[in-house]
Amino acid sequence: MTRLYVHPLAVRIWHWINALGFVALIVTGVQIRYVDLINWMTFATAVSVHNAVGWVLIGNYFVWLLFYVFTDRIRVYHPDLNPARQWRDSLRQLAYYGYGIFKGAANPHRPAVLRKFNPVQGVIYQLVMMLLVPLQFYTGVLLWDLDRFAGSVEFFGGVRVVANVHVLLFVFFVAFILVHPYLASLGHSPSAHFRAMITGHEEIEDEADAQGATPLAASATARQPAGHSPSG
Ligand code: HEM
Repeated sequence: MTRLYVHPLAVRIWHWINALGFVALIVTGVQIRYVDLINWMTFATAVSVHNAVGWVLIGNYFVWLLFYVFTDRIRVYHPDLNPARQWRDSLRQLAYYGYGIFKGAANPHRPAVLRKFNPVQGVIYQLVMMLLVPLQFYTGVLLWDLDRFAGSVEFFGGVRVVANVHVLLFVFFVAFILVHPYLASLGHSPSAHFRAMITGHEEIEDEADAQGATPLAASATARQPAGHSPSG
């Protein structure tokens, strides 16, 4: 096993505050939306907790953003600029998730310090963090004070449009919060990626141990940028 320092402290703190916060937002959001059907807490409590947690997560988002913008670690989010290779590697990764994993095949992606995400993760995390999370926060802020933001709400087509975008994104995040931990449990052991998000260190199986490793696995290792030791 080789240990790579892949999740710096700021990312780990951001991530677990964010994960807990999203669970709280989902629970209180369901109560707000379905106030006639469920009674987990009072409507007023749900609104207060939802607003407070929302603001905490907006602040927390900037921890993630500023950390990545001001360090070279942002390169983990850079896409592969070769579209053919990005497409091919994504299909290989999806084939592994949908079929190979059940046949005991090796994961085609071998993480490196600045290439910790597989090609599918890289695209999805980028979409989530650069587009969907900010859009969820922005629509939430508009709905938080409709009078103050009346101009912006009108600009986007009215309160129903803004509320529907917020709820559709909520549906996405409910699905995400189920699928994402499942995919995160597919490391060399079910808890490996979870431990990595706590300690910062990912344990990488040595190539010889990764039975059935594909040529792609080797090429992913070879593409690790120079100048970064395994300890990060
Ligand atoms: C129960 C909730 C959650 C659990 C158990 C969980 C678990 C994990 C784990 C184990 C990792 C590291 C492995 C990997 O890279 O996939 C990770 C990374 C990540 N998670 Fe989560 N997660 C949760 C909620 C969320 C939520 C709500 C979001 C965003 C809205 C999120 C966004 C991310 C992102 C962007 C990364 C990569 C972070 C980086 O290294 O920059 N997670 N998560």
